[in-house]
Amino acid sequence: MSKQSANPRCTMSLCILSGKGGVGKSNLALNLSYALYRANYRMLMMDFDVGLANVDVLLGISPEKNLQDLLQPGVTPADVVACVEPEGFDFLPAASGVPELLELDDDMRDSVFSKLNSALGEYDYIVFDLGAGIGKTVLSLAAMTRMRIMVVTPEPTSLTDSYAVIKVLNSQHGISDFQVVVNQVSDPKEGQLTFERLAGACKRFLGLDISYMGCVHSDPNVPEAVRRQTPLIKHAPKCRASQDILSLAIKIARHRAECRPELAEKAILKKITHG
Ligand SMILES: Nc1ncnc2c1ncn2[C@@H]1O[C@H](COP(=O)(O)OP(=O)(O)O)[C@@H](O)[C@H]1O
Ligand SMILES: [Mg+2]
Repeated sequence: MSKQSANPRCTMSLCILSGKGGVGKSNLALNLSYALYRANYRMLMMDFDVGLANVDVLLGISPEKNLQDLLQPGVTPADVVACVEPEGFDFLPAASGVPELLELDDDMRDSVFSKLNSALGEYDYIVFDLGAGIGKTVLSLAAMTRMRIMVVTPEPTSLTDSYAVIKVLNSQHGISDFQVVVNQVSDPKEGQLTFERLAGACKRFLGLDISYMGCVHSDPNVPEAVRRQTPLIKHAPKCRASQDILSLAIKIARHRAECRPELAEKAILKKITHG
């Protein structure tokens, strides 16, 4: 694990989720984590897509241990957290195909997190990359984090599946705040219209006001960065999708600053945009 300062700062947790798979959650989670890390925030990214864990592949690393090892007695968070960049961005890999983790109810979630608790307070942000859909693990993790980012694409199936996830989290867990990111848009108008469709359904059928966080352009640099196993923001910092994701990172930093006004450091926001 990277060296962390002993200065107590608030830890903000956020999760990236979706209705449908393949909409761009892992790429968004990875690049938001990377952008915030570059702006000097202490970051932990956790791959909690326990069905289809692949953030290690996006990063081109082969971690020796993962979340499953943490369930064993005597294994500490320091044993399983990998440092992606020297002294920076920490990453906890998921375990694919582990039934206990696929069906994580609130009690089991709490026992996993009781082990992680001492380590989590050392971070400014903990970013969870979740699986798609309404599995138990997704719901219990999404209900736990401070902020939920729902990734949708303009496809109608993505919209209906996202609505289903919001509905279940609202009715079964009492969650009412959702931030929406529309990925793979051809222009910002398409992002806004897609959001309005989802927001209209949430308002009409659930009486819920959801928030628009922004959109990310469809950009050939994204699959290219995946092929190179490098974060997009590192591979093509000036491309449209990178710029969009940097704007989202600024919004996340502002959100945290609203919770703790003394963290509203203009210099940090500037650093996110200029690297
Ligand atoms: N903004 C984008 N522009 C172009 N392709 C994208 C974009 N976002 C994601 N993709 C592509 O979509 C695929 C799925 O992305 P991924 O992040 O793995 O989705 P998920 O985690 O939701 O399953 C990737 O192969 C990636 O290249
Ligand atoms: Mg994924």
